[in-house]
Amino acid sequence: MMLSWVSWTALFILLVAVVLGSAIFLLLALRLYVYLSLGVCKSKSKMNGKTAIITGCTSGIGKETARDFAKRGARVIMACRNVQNANKIKDELIKETGNENIVVRKLDLSSLQSVREFAKQINNEEKSLDVLVHNAGTAETFTKKVSEDGLELTMATNHYGPFLLTHLLIDLLKKSAPSRIVVVASELYRLSTLNLENPNPVDTFPAYLYYVSKYANIVFTLELARRLEGTNVTANCLHPGMIDSGIWRSVPAPLSWGLSIIIKSFFKSPEQGAQTSIYLAVSDEVAGVSGKYFLDCHESWLSSGVSDAAKGKKFWELSEGLAKLQPSDPKI
Ligand SMILES: NC(=O)c1ccc[n+]([C@@H]2O[C@H](COP(=O)([O-])OP(=O)(O)OC[C@H]3O[C@@H](n4cnc5c(N)ncnc54)[C@H](OP(=O)(O)O)[C@@H]3O)[C@@H](O)[C@H]2O)c1
Repeated sequence: MMLSWVSWTALFILLVAVVLGSAIFLLLALRLYVYLSLGVCKSKSKMNGKTAIITGCTSGIGKETARDFAKRGARVIMACRNVQNANKIKDELIKETGNENIVVRKLDLSSLQSVREFAKQINNEEKSLDVLVHNAGTAETFTKKVSEDGLELTMATNHYGPFLLTHLLIDLLKKSAPSRIVVVASELYRLSTLNLENPNPVDTFPAYLYYVSKYANIVFTLELARRLEGTNVTANCLHPGMIDSGIWRSVPAPLSWGLSIIIKSFFKSPEQGAQTSIYLAVSDEVAGVSGKYFLDCHESWLSSGVSDAAKGKKFWELSEGLAKLQPSDPKI
């Protein structure tokens, strides 16, 4: 029996309604899942008398981490490259939290010279350092860039700068033990690997290097934790979730148009994204825990490649050379 055009139209409308309805249902279910699986730092620990450095806290997760530490009463050192912006945020945080013990110090992690100047100032000015949060990060998309030290820019900012900084502050952290180092990495490390034959990948596609730098963050943290065993200085890393933050700003149009819909619909807010950093910095539950990877405020699993201790040792030695560590610098 032949269907009339009216029946065909009705069938078509029904089909479209079913497809659209299923898509909306799936999206809502996904949104609900994202909401229900959010990790929240429930610790009420105060940080009075404690000093914390947070790198890159002019926006995103870093700014929320600084806000939280300020509320807990810490001396907050905002380590930022854009001092003008950082000062505005400092004023905002002081006004909001009533904690006047917040300072801005200039740090451009892509410059080894800047890292050295920052560390020198901290070592001269601070009596203790209880928490160091390696939060700052950058993601390039298409343009290959090299730092003033001849290092590929994403790797310089996300790994080599923090690597050098950790060395230059380690004595202060040890002196202040128990102290904690927190490294903001990413699940996106799973899309990459670390080529030890090419630790300064100046000719590699920059967008891919963001994943590599996050892989490097994890390899670094695990090796750091091994080297710090017995010092009472712990080192852990984390994935904050996918966050609606400034890190996506270099994605060009039209890619950014589609991405912004996904970001606004499904990604966490910066405040939600900061929870695991805060948890690792303050919670009693992780006192003494070191060399682990966390997401949503609980320990998570790592691939065997990224956890390979031999790879960690080799990468550490290569990093010592590329970060231009001097014989007079503290050894870890
Ligand atoms: N957003 C996500 O979905 C996501 C997912 C996984 C991991 N992460 C990680 O989370 C961390 C925080 O990123 P975010 O998402 O909060 O992004 P964001 O809003 O872009 O914040 C990044 C911060 O790093 C700073 N920074 C960049 N380059 C720097 C340099 N050379 N020296 C010093 N500071 C520098 C930025 O300062 P300026 O204001 O001067 O640019 C900014 O304060 C990063 O390590 C990122 O890789 C983010």
